Amino acid sequence: MKRYEDPQWKASMRIRMDLNNLMDSAIDASAQDPKFAKKVGAISMEDVQALMPKAQKAKASLGRKWGKASKMMAWTKLPTGQAAVVADIKKTADRVKNGFDTFVVLGIGGSALGPIAVQQALNHLHYNELSAGARGGCPRFYVEDNVDPERMAALLDVVDLERTCFNVITKSGSTSETMSQYMIVSSMLREKLGAKWAKHIIATTDKRNGNLIKIAKENGIKTFVVPDGVGGRFSELCPVGLLPAAVCGIDIEEMLAGAAYMDELCREDDLMKNPGYLSGLLMFIAMQQKGKNIQVMMPYADSLKYMADWYAQLWAESLGKKFSTRGKVVHVGQTPVKSLGVTDQHSQVQLYTEGPFDKVITFLGVDRYRSEVTIGGGCEAYPNVSFLTGHTLNELISMEQVATEYALTRAGKLNQTITLPEVNPFTVGELLYLFMVQTAVAGELLGIDAFDQPGVEEGKNATYALFGRPGYEEKKAELDARPAKNPSLIL
Ligand code: PA5
Repeated sequence: MKRYEDPQWKASMRIRMDLNNLMDSAIDASAQDPKFAKKVGAISMEDVQALMPKAQKAKASLGRKWGKASKMMAWTKLPTGQAAVVADIKKTADRVKNGFDTFVVLGIGGSALGPIAVQQALNHLHYNELSAGARGGCPRFYVEDNVDPERMAALLDVVDLERTCFNVITKSGSTSETMSQYMIVSSMLREKLGAKWAKHIIATTDKRNGNLIKIAKENGIKTFVVPDGVGGRFSELCPVGLLPAAVCGIDIEEMLAGAAYMDELCREDDLMKNPGYLSGLLMFIAMQQKGKNIQVMMPYADSLKYMADWYAQLWAESLGKKFSTRGKVVHVGQTPVKSLGVTDQHSQVQLYTEGPFDKVITFLGVDRYRSEVTIGGGCEAYPNVSFLTGHTLNELISMEQVATEYALTRAGKLNQTITLPEVNPFTVGELLYLFMVQTAVAGELLGIDAFDQPGVEEGKNATYALFGRPGYEEKKAELDARPAKNPSLIL
């Protein structure tokens, strides 16, 4: 029996959300300078109760699409509905492990941030520097999510094409950045390896739309499908994220089991007990009624550092919208900021504690780190330092998290804490899924489409026009007609 099949183990791995410090019961506005007390904006139970009917309505509306192959909500089907895909991924991952010593993801946005976050969370923090044996025979792992020429050249300096497999990931199959990377590496592979080149590429893309699927079919490239109704930033639990994770030795079935467990918790009808709905509702109140335009995610674990990057895209691109679903101009959203505990205590926390009352801080904590490091001695003559001797870094990082939470709360700054009992595939699956639900709920409450990204499309189209891509002549004319810049403002 796998450990995630044991109900007791599962319950012991449930991630906890502590929402106390968002509420007026914990944040005392009267402790602030009266001039600013009003800005504190702590949430009351009355605020929550007043919005319960709206939240119930959101649940009914999202519930109709839940677990179905519905438009843009098909990610709710991923935790349990992929047995055949998982089998194919595991087989392919074994082939990659046996045939290559390096695996490179070519992708951007939702096609890159999830693989980066999961790799950082679940593998050794210096994975690529380990010997192949210490990596369990898994290949080195890189994600190219930019088109900086220096970065691409640097990658090509350190990989041996004959021993490298490239996973091109693009749902649309037409993203310029990713397709440029594909064309760079495929030409090099062709030149170097002749007829065998296509064996070095795996394409993860839509099953019918876009260019990549056609190119893959023409050239006999192995493909995986990004299912219909699964958008880029909601795709980590489909082959977009599962293949890179499996290739690097991560137990993807346990990750899906964690997501399935969170799915169950987020089906709860009592919304006060439903982590996805309650957190979505509280963030909605914070941003719409309490002026909290910024959410800082601050993991107290290097392993969760890139979870904040992944969440930033999910939250920003899903909720930052000009129009409501009814076509009204609303300009909503909350700016996500990434921070790292304890590192950014020495960089950003001064602002969070004493600056404007415009943020919610979300701490990500861990009960049990996977390593324990004891602080040595030798400085007994210096009591201001030696008090640390014999303690562990585990205690130090945890105490500093508690201390920062305390300082922020005293300063009247809203904060919440999500704690993982430990960082493992199960809890990471839970966390990813929780954030996806929270985002969908916040989107529904905001009355916007959380699953499109028209603001990104405009930039993509302008790039196509600047390159003279056929079909974009009108956009090019529009760009050419833009007003000239004032030279006196260019110094
Ligand atoms: O969330 C999204 O849909 C986007 O951020 C995409 O992931 C990103 O633009 C990359 O698109 P694609 O996967 O089509 O290359």
